[in-house]
Amino acid sequence: MHNSIPYGKQHITQQDLDVVVKTLKSDFLTQGPQIAAFEEAFAKYIGAKYAVALSNGTAALHLCALALDVKAGQKVITTPITFAASANCVKYCGGEVVFADIDPETYLLDISAVKKLLENAPKGTYSGIIPVDFAGNAANLEKFRQIANEYGLWMIEDSCHSPGGTFIDSNNKEQYCGNGNFADLAIFSFHPVKHIACGEGGMITTNDKKLYDKLLFLRTHGITKNPDLFINDAQWAAGNTSNNVTQYPGWYMEMQTLGYNYRLTDFQAALGISQLQRADEGLKRRREIAAKYAISFENKDWMFGQSGNVTGHAYHLYVVEVKDRLELYNYLRTKNIFAQVHYIPVHLMPFYKQQGYKIGDFPNAETYYSRCLSLPMYPTLTNEEQDFVIECINTFYTQ
Ligand SMILES: Cc1ncc(COP(=O)(O)O)c(C=O)c1O
Repeated sequence: MHNSIPYGKQHITQQDLDVVVKTLKSDFLTQGPQIAAFEEAFAKYIGAKYAVALSNGTAALHLCALALDVKAGQKVITTPITFAASANCVKYCGGEVVFADIDPETYLLDISAVKKLLENAPKGTYSGIIPVDFAGNAANLEKFRQIANEYGLWMIEDSCHSPGGTFIDSNNKEQYCGNGNFADLAIFSFHPVKHIACGEGGMITTNDKKLYDKLLFLRTHGITKNPDLFINDAQWAAGNTSNNVTQYPGWYMEMQTLGYNYRLTDFQAALGISQLQRADEGLKRRREIAAKYAISFENKDWMFGQSGNVTGHAYHLYVVEVKDRLELYNYLRTKNIFAQVHYIPVHLMPFYKQQGYKIGDFPNAETYYSRCLSLPMYPTLTNEEQDFVIECINTFYTQ
């Protein structure tokens, strides 16, 4: 029997282990120098001005929604083909999630479906939009920005699947996912199956200094230690001593807004930095794997669609849409190949059905769900393993 082949897998090297151990032996386990170094390196890699490291991608989404002042009753548009967290961040703040269908070719939020929603409602009905670079395929954020501007919407890019992914803008310029040129905020996840693994971890990138400052507050309980920002006076802060005090005492800090503890640890950040150094290498290998799948499954009559060989795609996932998906999934399991389904449409999760969504609302998303399967895709997948996956799939359809 072949070794088990999952759909995604982390890659931990000796260097990764060494930097984590070194950090564990240092003076800082959390919020030490590795955090700032990871933020700086990540912002540079993505091409954004600012980055804020967080405990996971869901926390990143929550803080984005808070920073953009999502409030009860506000309506925000997103795709049903994503992980539930892309939508849930709106619910955390009391907002309302409005789904729009996907484009059946790219599997991304369909901009024409979004336009239709916006055109059919009075201006001001919607507050924001959350496009997702699903599977690693970069959404054309320039186009989304145009309609966001027209309708006064903010935009969060969910780039969890796409560090290193790009699209070409109308000036023929390559735009990196999360670079902050179009979205107000972008988020990433460092869950083990993602490109960069920290165990758990997340990042927000932005070019907006005001939002960046707000995020720093929200990440740590809404507390600041910066004397320039203090609201209470120094005399009181010092304990109302009889001496005339103009400087705040060293212990002093202020909680000025309701925040959270969404911090990443220093040893996770050290792992992130080390992983980031291999990000391009991993991306190259993911693209090679995708190119081989794409060519192997070309013109197969049991194939309705596939991720394909797309320039700029970051290939977190390689998706095929196939006939007899359930049977193929079960067959592959007998061969120790653990393909996966991404995603069950979020609008049909019982939580969102309670809010009125029902089967038939988004036909493209639902058809996609009935036939999609994510094949093994990770940098350490060997040629021999990929050949075995392809051979098993071909055998299944020809036996
Ligand atoms: C598209 C998308 N958004 C958000 C998240 C949430 O990230 P995390 O698992 O780090 O909380 C994920 C993770 O699976 C994801 O795939």
